[in-house]
Amino acid sequence: MTPHIQSIIHPAGIAAARVSHLWWVMFWVCTVVWFAVAIAALIAINRGRRAASAETSDARVSRSVTIAAGITVVTLIALLFESVLTGRALNGLRTRDALRIQVTGNQWWWDVQYENPTPSLRVATANEIHIPTGRAIAFDLLSNDVIHSLWIPNLQGKIDLVPGRQNELWLQADKPGVYRAQCAEYCGLQHAKMALVVVAEPESDFQNWLTANRASAHPPVTPDQQRGKDVVERGPCAMCHNITGTLAGGQSAPDLTHLGSRSTIAAGSLPNTRGYLAGWIADPQHVKPGNRMPAPGLNDEQLQSVLAYLESLK
Ligand code: CUA
Repeated sequence: MTPHIQSIIHPAGIAAARVSHLWWVMFWVCTVVWFAVAIAALIAINRGRRAASAETSDARVSRSVTIAAGITVVTLIALLFESVLTGRALNGLRTRDALRIQVTGNQWWWDVQYENPTPSLRVATANEIHIPTGRAIAFDLLSNDVIHSLWIPNLQGKIDLVPGRQNELWLQADKPGVYRAQCAEYCGLQHAKMALVVVAEPESDFQNWLTANRASAHPPVTPDQQRGKDVVERGPCAMCHNITGTLAGGQSAPDLTHLGSRSTIAAGSLPNTRGYLAGWIADPQHVKPGNRMPAPGLNDEQLQSVLAYLESLK
């Protein structure tokens, strides 16, 4: 699917369209004001030179000041009005049949849970959110450590993820596509490498994705993949990562059950290819210094098997 340029002025949903509209209104109003002020300043300089000796009329100066102040007040009130209207329109997205997705901020990755009253129908993933187009989405936003902020510029404005409280973000994607999103609140050393991918797709594709992601991890097929699974289950990986259907049940790091189907690793920092994955696992502190993943200390053979296994987790 087409990756879109990450930009608020390329809206792909109704909420983002309102934000973008407000931005353009402010841009054009400020442009007109800037030119008006520049022209007035030039005229004043010119007049001042010509009539340096002539007497200035106090009445005329005070009339000009009143007119300028009046225009300023009217312009600011108009912008305020437009801004309030935009806020109301963004709130208008709330509906009961929205798809609810819980997103939890962590230093420095995103935990994503598709809620469902039936536990077996829940889906857990990380750093990649799939949503259906043409349907309201409600994000329940939480944080496990510090304040983060979820910003998907093509789809909606940003909102903070605050420890100890739940915030909500509503949006709707109208155009299918891949949208880059990122943390927009400084949250520590690797704030810049706390990105994520939002994939908006037609409802049927989304349902297929959901069904595929409800399943347990694919069992290993080749002996190499089996060796990789053994290393993951018996080594340090399983302490933090979960792979549903295996002995790996850690809950403090990104869920890896369907890692092979995701497009990035390390929270949008690197493409999910074998080479980058190898570099990440061999030395996570080189890619994102300060992150919570220590080098698991695998030998070459173990590393290759782990890569083969992780790649098979489609
Ligand atoms: Cu999380 Cu910045």
